[in-house]
Amino acid sequence: MTQDSLKRAAALAALDELVDGAIVGVGSGSTVGFFIEALGERRERVAGAVSSSERSSDLLRAAGIEVLDLNRVVAAGTPIPVYVDGADEIDGSLRMIKGGGGALTREKIVASACERFVCIVDHSKLVARLGGFPLPVEVIPMARELVAARLRRLGGEPVERAGFVTDNGNLVLDVGGLVIDDPVKLEFEINQWPGVVTVGLFASRPANVVLIAAPDGIERRPAIGR
Ligand code: 5RP
Repeated sequence: MTQDSLKRAAALAALDELVDGAIVGVGSGSTVGFFIEALGERRERVAGAVSSSERSSDLLRAAGIEVLDLNRVVAAGTPIPVYVDGADEIDGSLRMIKGGGGALTREKIVASACERFVCIVDHSKLVARLGGFPLPVEVIPMARELVAARLRRLGGEPVERAGFVTDNGNLVLDVGGLVIDDPVKLEFEINQWPGVVTVGLFASRPANVVLIAAPDGIERRPAIGR
């Protein structure tokens, strides 16, 4: 099986996690692209979607699914029971590194507005310890060197993502070489530096369930105690 066919299998399995008639939160990336494609064929199941990137919004509209404004949904007090998104890495506690597609800030915002985070991955994303994948950090452009210097002091090797601007008009530093012993602590630490918009650690609020596609099938792994 190819990685894409595994991603598609995980995406299809996420359809079983939806709450019929409700709004769904939608992440970004190629696995989510397969989810949007499948959702488009069953678009009557959802009342619309709140999207985490311009790319996903375009795909949702092309699939005939209404893209709703998060502010309006929240102001109306309408619940968003489920958020579906991929990950670059996920560990045994369902903590993740995300942002390979650069949509980490909006993903964190939309995820925080939803009741349950359903992560969809192929088995290559499952790791014993986060940090093999360079950690994306969205940064206000004028703070690039300031934030990069602080990341180096943590032992990281930040590299500016070439030719890339986020949907929010910022840049992304991809940080290799970090030893992530305590993902929650590191998330809080980097998040509070001036100039950092979002760090791609999704650890303080991990996924509620991960659907892992492997050649022998889908494993549904809920978070312990959540
Ligand atoms: C985008 C993300 C994606 O979820 C992550 O990069 C995984 O992408 P893919 O499904 O293409 O492997 O965080 O910002």
